[in-house]
Order: sequence, then structure tokens, then C-alpha cells
Amino acid sequence: YYLGIDIGTSGTKTLLIDEAGSVLAESDANYPMAQPRPGWTEQDPEDWWKATVKTVRAVLRASNVDKSEVKAIGLSGQMHGSVFLDKDDQVIRPALLWNDQRTVEQCDAITSAAGSREKLIGMVANPALTGFQAPKILWLRDNEKRNFGKLAKVLLPKDEIRRRLIGDYVTEVSDASGTLLLDVKARGWSSELLSKLGLDASLLPRVVESEDVTGTLTPAAAKSLGLSTECKVVGGAGDCAAGAIGNGIVKTGLLSTSIGTSGVMFVHSDEPNIDAAGRLHTFCHAVRGKWHMMGVNLTSGGSLQWWVENVLQGLAGMPKGQSFAAATKEAEGVPAGSGSLLFLPYLNGERTPHADPKARGAFVGMNLTHDRAAMTRSVMEGITFALRDSLDIIESLGVPVRQIRASGGGSKNELWRQMQADVFGKKITTLKVEQGAAYGVALLAAVGDGAYRNIASACAATIEVAAETKPDAKAKATYNRLFPVYRDLYLRLSDSMH
Ligand code: XUL
Repeated sequence: YYLGIDIGTSGTKTLLIDEAGSVLAESDANYPMAQPRPGWTEQDPEDWWKATVKTVRAVLRASNVDKSEVKAIGLSGQMHGSVFLDKDDQVIRPALLWNDQRTVEQCDAITSAAGSREKLIGMVANPALTGFQAPKILWLRDNEKRNFGKLAKVLLPKDEIRRRLIGDYVTEVSDASGTLLLDVKARGWSSELLSKLGLDASLLPRVVESEDVTGTLTPAAAKSLGLSTECKVVGGAGDCAAGAIGNGIVKTGLLSTSIGTSGVMFVHSDEPNIDAAGRLHTFCHAVRGKWHMMGVNLTSGGSLQWWVENVLQGLAGMPKGQSFAAATKEAEGVPAGSGSLLFLPYLNGERTPHADPKARGAFVGMNLTHDRAAMTRSVMEGITFALRDSLDIIESLGVPVRQIRASGGGSKNELWRQMQADVFGKKITTLKVEQGAAYGVALLAAVGDGAYRNIASACAATIEVAAETKPDAKAKATYNRLFPVYRDLYLRLSDSMH
């Protein structure tokens, strides 16, 4: 048996699977996220540990498996966060999270230390973004000197849980890519950037491939979890790569779209293709020796949620409860293109492709025929156009995209599946059972333990495609006509957003 543990932002999810990949039990435990000031987000790593212990014990209880039969654990987690430890492994202050925005100055400082944005991208494949880990370390140095003086190690969220499990400091390539300190091409720390930033390499853990065994449980951890000290812990993956593995995105030509609060386009790549303009992230994949590119939209399903909750329920008095289903049902009656009404889904700034925290939303092109249903459809189309922006950049860099697999909320709604096929102009597939990041790292644990030759064969043996949606020629033509107009709007409106 194998365990997958995902240390998420709102909670931890743990799954227990057997060698064939069937899920025997799962458990969730939530914790709070502190926002001590606007734009600051923090969590107490102790909460992650308590949720880990609680959920592992819960799945063991529910499945009643023998503890010596649990052979390996895979760890996944929210990316980019920073856990600051002193020389005695004590947490110095609450961890800063991936969605924390306090490091604008430090991002500028990193870009100048590197020489330019292009030079930085040359070293670590990505530009400096406020959420990434490196600017958080500099923030501590600039703003909390006493804390920085005590600093001995910086870990990513899931790697702090690993430290408590195996008593060692280890990360793996996919999550390490989101620190901004990894030479993504070479799959090792960038000594060049570390020295330009005046940071000591001893602050960082050792880096391995995602399926490598990083250690076995310490006697204390084994006792807390109710497992054996022979249980291995494999590298695991950041939650985006782990989720992609859970969706079977482990081969050339496969791309996954995920519409949750945020939207992610994730493509497997055999080569470290780097977007010179820094619009997409290029990170190491959790597949040995491979990479991935990823575009992130900050307010994807979040835009539909805003539309339904603030406007339809709030202003139009639609009843709560079924209004999501009711709204998307109404939108089915509107022809593709919503009568040329366009929606920009930048309600909370945007990451891909604009990297603009000040970008804002808009409806453009309203006329007297537009009604509630047309506006709902236009919101869904705007969200899907935002994803197509990433798809077009991916294809323009020569990364092949042959099959698109939809996941998250956007895969469960028939209208949205069809809309994705029409807007992307490609066939969309969905999975029979979608288990997400915890499942992806449980499979990595199975590979690390030798149950499968590699992660591609583990996915081939366990992941089943359920349905296919083909593009409709007429709708596709309509979207091909509207997409350039959509894309142009941000460029024309951005001055008035700032
Ligand atoms: C990825 C990212 C988020 C976090 C959230 O770049 O910022 O998906 O990993 O869990």
C-alpha cells in the first residue's frame, strides 16, 4: 500500500492506495490561513503536521491495513512557500505562502542583482514573481534582521513535513523549481544566482528527482503516524506537477487544463523550453529528466463564482444553492460567442500572460439584446479565452499539444467541456476518476518502492480516460474570430486599469 499526502492551502488531503492504484481510503483536515496585513498570507507549519498525523491515522483506521504493509509515502503541497528554521530545527516565524504579495521590492532587487530580467530567466528559467520563495528569503533579511540572523534552513511546505518524517532536509526538482533558485535546465541549485544574492547554499536542502527515496520514517514519526520505520518517503512533487501526474500528464503531447479558483494550463515537455518573455513558468516535471510549462490564471473559476454570488445572487436575487447549475444551464441556450459580448477575467490581477497585479475585469461590447444568460456565458468564455492565451504561447514555443485533458470544476460541466474543445480547437478528454495531487504522489511512492518501472507506466496502469468531447466546427470558427479581439482588449485597456 502507498500513501499520498497533499499539504494544501486550505487543508491536507491524504489517500491510501493499493498497488493497482485503487483508492482504499481518504481523509481531509482543514486549517486557517492568517492574513496579518493586506497582501500577506501566513500559516503555522505545526498545523500542517497535526493535519498530516490526523489524516494518516484516519485512512489507516478506515482501511484497516497492516501498518507494515504501507511501503512508501509521497508528499505533495502548496508550492513556493517558505518555512524558516533555526539551527535547532525550530520554526522561526510563521511560513509565508505562495499567494503572499509582500515582496515586490525584493523581486526588483533580484532582477537587478541578476543583471536584467533576461539574465535572470537565463539562470533560473523564470522571472521574479512575488509568490516565489527567493524573494521571501530576502524579505526576511531586509525586514526581520534578528530572525534572519537565526536562519539555518529554508524549506518548502511539503519538505518541512518530510523533515519531520525522516529527519533530513530534502526537496525534489518540481517544487524546487518554484523557489527561483533552481537552475531548471541542470536540475540543481543555481550557484550563480545564490552568489549574486549573497545567499549561502547551506540554507537550502539537497535536491533529488521526484520518485527517488529520500529516507525512511524516524522512530518518533513512525510512532505518531502508526506506521513502520521501514516505510519510505519519496521526493513527491509540488501540487501542480503532482496534480498533473494524477491526470496522467506524463508524456509528450499531453496538456491538462484545470479550472478551480485559479486556472492552470500544464504541459509535459521533453525539453526545458523557456519562454524568453517569462509569461509562462518553465519548471522541472516530476517525471525523471523531463520538464513542464505552466500558465496560471489567478481568477478563473473565481470569476464565475464572483458572477454567480455577487451579481446573480446579490443583485438579481437568484436563490442560493442551485444557482451555479441554474446559471450555466441558462447559458447553454445562448449561441457560442455570446453575441460578441466579451469578458476579461482579471478580477484580482493576472499572472499569465500579463504578469500584472493591477489588471482588472471588464465586460466589453454590450448591446440591448444581452441578458443574464448571455452574460453568464460570456464570463465562462472569457475564462476559457484566458486559458487559450497560455495554450497559444505553449504552441508558439514548439511544445506539441495533441490531447487536452480537462480537470477541476471546468471538467464536470458539459457546457464548459464543449466550450474548451471549441475555444482550444482540440479534442478534450476527462478521467473516469479524478483524484488530484495526493493521488499523483501516491503513484510516485509506488514507483519509488519499485511497484512500477517508471511514472509513465504507473499512470498507464492506473488512470482511465472516461469521455471525449470533440470541437464543433461552427463554434470553433466563431471563437477563432473573437479570440484576437479578446486578446487585444487588455492591451488597449491596461492603461486605464493602472
Ligand atoms: C503554482 C501556485 C499554486 C500553489 C497553490 O505556481 O502558485 O498552484 O501551488 O497550491
